[in-house]
Amino acid sequence: MLIRAIKKIKFKILRKFSKKITDFLFFINKVEFEKYVTIGVPILDLSSECTVKFGSGLIMVNLPQYATLGKSNKCKFVVSKNAKLILGSNIGMSNVVIVATKSIVMGNNIMIGGGVTVVDSDFHSLNPSHWHTNEDEKNMVSLPVIIKDNVFIGMDSIILKGVTIGSNSIIAAGSVVTKSIPDNEIWGGNPARFIKNNEIKEI
Ligand SMILES: CC(C)(COP(=O)(O)OP(=O)(O)OC[C@H]1O[C@@H](n2cnc3c(N)ncnc32)[C@H](O)[C@@H]1OP(=O)(O)O)[C@@H](O)C(=O)NCCC(=O)NCCS
Repeated sequence: MLIRAIKKIKFKILRKFSKKITDFLFFINKVEFEKYVTIGVPILDLSSECTVKFGSGLIMVNLPQYATLGKSNKCKFVVSKNAKLILGSNIGMSNVVIVATKSIVMGNNIMIGGGVTVVDSDFHSLNPSHWHTNEDEKNMVSLPVIIKDNVFIGMDSIILKGVTIGSNSIIAAGSVVTKSIPDNEIWGGNPARFIKNNEIKEI
């Protein structure tokens, strides 16, 4: 009983403390944000000339002891010069890494499982003669990623450049998504393929 009470108080203090530090980080990085909850402090690597907006109801888990899967990496947001990262409202994520070099836009009511990675570029040119030269970054391909409303991305999945995930669709655990996914479908595997329609039952 006493241990439970101590744990509860510890959690409350941690939440408050995490929020204070994260509020400061958001402020100095010019992140536009609304009401959010964070357990632990995420990592921000944001250009001074980028756009980052987080809608209300964002929940971030950054510490293994409070992440269901116990993954140890913090949520990390990397946004390059002139790029944008826009998150709608009611998005939950644990230990997620998002790297926007051009544009990553998410809608509302989205669950992103532990250890998911979302990127909008290859980070390198695909031409070996560019590697380890200044041409590498200049020739890398970036294509916008869009994740629409009511999407559930299973743990450890990777969402690659140019992908749109339709509303009410689900990505199975451990998938590598290379192609766009229509509304109301469940896809999975590497590369992710159609599994079945997502039959939505009204409650
Ligand atoms: C995608 C998912 C929702 C499907 O669950 P389900 O509706 O119960 O579906 P089933 O288990 O009946 O599987 C249906 C088919 O999809 C395949 N499948 C299920 N999960 C898969 C995966 N992760 N990767 C590839 N294929 C998968 C099954 O093998 C099965 O294939 P078959 O029809 O050829 O036999 C579930 O497997 C899943 O990945 N959940 C995500 C869990 C998660 O990551 N939670 C977040 C934790 S933080």
